[in-house]
Amino acid sequence: MKTFDELEVRRPALARSYLALLEAQPGRPLTLFAPRRVGKTFFLDHDMAPEAKAAGMLPVYADLWLYKSAPLEAINHALEEALDDLLVPSGNIGKIAKTPVTKIGVLGASLDLGDAPQRRSLPESSPLRLDALVTRLAGQHRGKILLMLDEVQALADSPDDAAMIATLRAVLHKRRKSVNAIFTGSSQEGLARLMNTVGAPMYQFAQIIDFPFLGDEFLRLLAEHFGQVHPDKKLELAELRNAFQKIGFKPALMRDIVRAMSAEGLTDVQRGIESYRTSGHQVAIWLALLNSIDAFDQAVLVVIAQGQPPLSRATLKVLELIPGSKPTIAKVRSSIEKLKRNGMLSKTMVGTTIDDPLFAEFLVTHSQQGIGSGRGCTPSLTKHPPA
Ligand SMILES: Nc1ncnc2c1ncn2[C@@H]1O[C@H](COP(=O)(O)OP(=O)(O)OP(=O)(O)O)[C@@H](O)[C@H]1O
Ligand SMILES: [Mg+2]
Repeated sequence: MKTFDELEVRRPALARSYLALLEAQPGRPLTLFAPRRVGKTFFLDHDMAPEAKAAGMLPVYADLWLYKSAPLEAINHALEEALDDLLVPSGNIGKIAKTPVTKIGVLGASLDLGDAPQRRSLPESSPLRLDALVTRLAGQHRGKILLMLDEVQALADSPDDAAMIATLRAVLHKRRKSVNAIFTGSSQEGLARLMNTVGAPMYQFAQIIDFPFLGDEFLRLLAEHFGQVHPDKKLELAELRNAFQKIGFKPALMRDIVRAMSAEGLTDVQRGIESYRTSGHQVAIWLALLNSIDAFDQAVLVVIAQGQPPLSRATLKVLELIPGSKPTIAKVRSSIEKLKRNGMLSKTMVGTTIDDPLFAEFLVTHSQQGIGSGRGCTPSLTKHPPA
């Protein structure tokens, strides 16, 4: 029997539809937007890459978030790795086969062929290197490349963003016969900054598409597996649907909740969520997360979790209760930016919210008890004084 961890939904048809869209508009990248933890990277890896390969393309992946300070170098590095893989296939046989033969024995004599002709080395400068790598890689592969750039909003945060975005755009356009590009992004704000700022080089360049959440297919897998573990019990699909929506369509989180329900033999999904949220293990994780930020940032988080306007005068009054805090609008703004950057807050259509809805509930219920081992929010933070 499979484990909960092995339950996976594959979306090859969705991947093929994106490939078709890319083919229909050469040189124009596609950007898949979705909030955090809903399965963007998983999709690139498990669906886009195999479908691109099946279509004769060479998928190349780079995570720009990991190399925020040097995204162009990260892209170049990924392309260089792919080129290495083509020139020296992994495994001993490949490596031996590609070792240049310089001497051939002919009837006991030896003929020296000299060194194999070397290709010109790649340019040092990153923009030129990108161009050269794309061309060389596509030539070597004898087919198109699918450049997959994960968390592309990181481009908007890098030091010389405008020049770099211009380079990327120029290369993707110029080499449109050799390369298609698909991006993902998890920050609406970052993407908007990157794509929609009038005058910015990415303006109206990439098409932004809402990446669909997993749906019933995934929930059915969970329910079926639960039924195999507990033949006398059943999880209701409608309840799972509500819960999945409530936790922001995050599959790994949903799986953790159902796994915990299975361990306890629970079938009431709402109770399952409660039990997960209040479990010692989960609370310890959240407390550790809170203790990684200072008391002021903790308090800003709580205010936002409570649905209070973070920049209001009433909020500033509450924040004054933190010893030595001297709250100002600018200070709250900078705290919000910091919390967004570290992933605790995200900006959505409805404003700035806590990224993980269960963490938000935890913040609200625990704010009475003084979050962060007494370092942070005081009980009074749960109630706003009169404005
Ligand atoms: N199609 C799927 N089927 C089953 N589980 C999935 C699927 N997609 C994602 N998951 C689970 O959700 C987890 C998070 O997915 P993933 O890392 O792809 O999300 P993401 O949107 O890239 O997140 P982040 O914003 O943190 O980069 C995965 O580790 C995996 O366990
Ligand atoms: Mg990801």
